[in-house]
Amino acid sequence: MSLDLAGRTIIVSGAAGGVGRSVVGKLAAMGACVCATDLTPSVLELGAGKVVSIVGDVTKSDHVNAIYEFAESKLGPVDGLVSNAGFIISKSVHETSEEEWDSVMNANAKSFFLMAKRALPSMMERRTGTIVATGSISSVVGLPSQAAYCASKGALLQLVRQMAVDYASAGIRINAVGPGSINTPFLTKYLQGLEDPAAGEANIKSAHPLGRWAEPEEIADAIVYLSSSASSFVTGQILMVDGGYTAR
Ligand SMILES: NC(=O)c1ccc[n+]([C@@H]2O[C@H](COP(=O)([O-])OP(=O)(O)OC[C@H]3O[C@@H](n4cnc5c(N)ncnc54)[C@H](O)[C@@H]3O)[C@@H](O)[C@H]2O)c1
Repeated sequence: MSLDLAGRTIIVSGAAGGVGRSVVGKLAAMGACVCATDLTPSVLELGAGKVVSIVGDVTKSDHVNAIYEFAESKLGPVDGLVSNAGFIISKSVHETSEEEWDSVMNANAKSFFLMAKRALPSMMERRTGTIVATGSISSVVGLPSQAAYCASKGALLQLVRQMAVDYASAGIRINAVGPGSINTPFLTKYLQGLEDPAAGEANIKSAHPLGRWAEPEEIADAIVYLSSSASSFVTGQILMVDGGYTAR
């Protein structure tokens, strides 16, 4: 199985977070040149060796253009995208404001559209490319109090499938990972928003047949696989990395 990414240039969004940080490290370790991007300046700490970094908001097309122009000027044409930025607002539909709906859909679904749209023309010209989006168990099942989040991650998965069909003949593969709960700041914030965080933690762990949540490295490994030639006949799929959550 070849996970060798030497000579490939890959952009990772949400790179300052738990999963993104791990993905950047693993892609670079496999030989890729990586452009790490995030809303937060702490992403800049990642810029060393084969990694360059830039702050930007992936929900805005002018920022997305700036991120690609930066990556192309520093590293050359972009062969891979890991669209991983995202966040959650934990509310049911009747509690969700229009602004909250838009912010979650923009961060999780529109950002993927914008990042992929900007990547595709150059990938089509060079007839190569991998695009991996971070979905969720919420891409495939309805979860309580996750109205906008489930809608956004479901939309992301359908766009993965649709684009896989459109761009397969151009040699571009497009897939998603579908994590269960992951030990990152995202999960910490989610638990802090619950009335009883300790009970929430126990509930989350017991909902996964493996009886625990994931570490970010376990999700990053799946993203590296989907970004490499080891997955050369895989496209339009969501690889569930969920401790068996959706197997029940
Ligand atoms: N942690 C979990 O339990 C869990 C479960 C399933 C899926 N996910 C998904 O995994 C991905 C990574 O999340 P994580 O757990 O590492 O969380 P995290 O909060 O540690 O990281 C997410 C990163 O995305 C960045 N981001 C958010 N909106 C952005 C924007 N508009 N522009 C640029 N950057 C932006 C944040 O600044 C943050 O650094 C997300 O898409 C999330 O929805 C997380």
